[in-house]
Amino acid sequence: MPTTYEATLEYAQGQDQTDTLYPFRERFIFPQHEGADVRYFCGNSLGLQPKSVSYLMEKELRDWGKYGVEGHFRAAYPWFSYHHFFTDRLAKVVGAEKDEVVAMNTLTVNLHMLMLSFYRPHNKRYKIIMEAGAFPSDQYAVETQVRMHGYDPEDAIIEITPQEGAHLIEDIDIINAIKEAGDSVALVMIGGVNYYTGQFFDLENITKAAHSVGAYAGFDLAHAAGNVQLQLHSWNVDFACWCSYKYLNSGPGGVGGAFVHERHGNNPDLFRLAGWWGNDEKTRFKMQKGFVPQKGAASWQMSNAPVFNMVAHNASLDIFEKAGLPALREKSIQLTGYMEFLLRQITHLPFEIITPSEPSRRGCQLSMLFHERGKEVFEALTQSGIVADWREPNVIRIAPVPLYNTYEDCYKFYEVLTLIS
Ligand SMILES: Cc1ncc(COP(=O)(O)O)c(C=O)c1O
Repeated sequence: MPTTYEATLEYAQGQDQTDTLYPFRERFIFPQHEGADVRYFCGNSLGLQPKSVSYLMEKELRDWGKYGVEGHFRAAYPWFSYHHFFTDRLAKVVGAEKDEVVAMNTLTVNLHMLMLSFYRPHNKRYKIIMEAGAFPSDQYAVETQVRMHGYDPEDAIIEITPQEGAHLIEDIDIINAIKEAGDSVALVMIGGVNYYTGQFFDLENITKAAHSVGAYAGFDLAHAAGNVQLQLHSWNVDFACWCSYKYLNSGPGGVGGAFVHERHGNNPDLFRLAGWWGNDEKTRFKMQKGFVPQKGAASWQMSNAPVFNMVAHNASLDIFEKAGLPALREKSIQLTGYMEFLLRQITHLPFEIITPSEPSRRGCQLSMLFHERGKEVFEALTQSGIVADWREPNVIRIAPVPLYNTYEDCYKFYEVLTLIS
């Protein structure tokens, strides 16, 4: 990482000129502000639209018109097998084997489906450990799963909080809590990158700790997939799920993703709710009694693939494949480092960065916690054509995304802050 960052436009433009990933921004459509592209820092909420999506969507519509039901087998990408066309690229994004991932449903639905398999409380093993301040959907999902099994969330959910006066949760506190709760823990379920602080948890060691007490480890990777480098297979994670509309640029409500480690995915005795699309493909259309799970995560599928929803996903994963996740991550570390450097030059506004400084403990997002004037600063940014994201009660989140953000974007963000008196 350069130690010689400079807070000048010339420096920022110079960095963009030598950035080999710079041309990838040409593949995206930018919203407009006063006739120019906005400076878009909201890829942690909704990624930009790849330009290739409209062509590919039209092609799929044409195939539907041309073939009707026969499109299941005769479309250019036959719908019967649609999810197979990008599974290998999706697996790379999360560091998995091909059979360990599947695109299906949406995130919260997948979390419920996977918890039905991996949260099977019995006797004294019924507790779930999660981080305090998890995304509300995760909190609701965990709470209702606990209730469904007849437990009281107050007793069954252990929330790990930051230490007194801190904003972040220490990994070691999660690990120690797991060890302390021991064989009462059925499941550890954490948001891999926290949506509010941008903190990236140590998933490998949390998984190890969960396994050391005989519990499963599962993660919500909404803010991690396509943002940080994941090794779900080699970290031995039991299950994970994510959405595709943030860093994976696959459009609002885009298809979700799920990971099930091969040791579980290929275990037909592990309980899963079944639907015809999870059945062995060879016998799916025989319409026989008796569910025969296909290999791997794909056996958790219920319904036939939402093809139109997957078109953008296919297009976006193609871009990831071309850019390469290691190169994207390398740029991301430098770009977010630059943004952090610039923000630290600002001394006249009352905010602190609550995201960890160490690149290994964060993705591209930085969270600026305002002690006052937060909304006013947010509005000044918006009026200047900068798209950031306000999170109640007092945080501006910004995500310099390596696929389409530039050093100049970061400089312009900083410049707007310098102009606020
Ligand atoms: C961390 C996290 N979990 C869950 C969700 C909910 O996702 P969905 O509406 O796709 O179920 C979100 C949405 O932004 C999120 O950020």
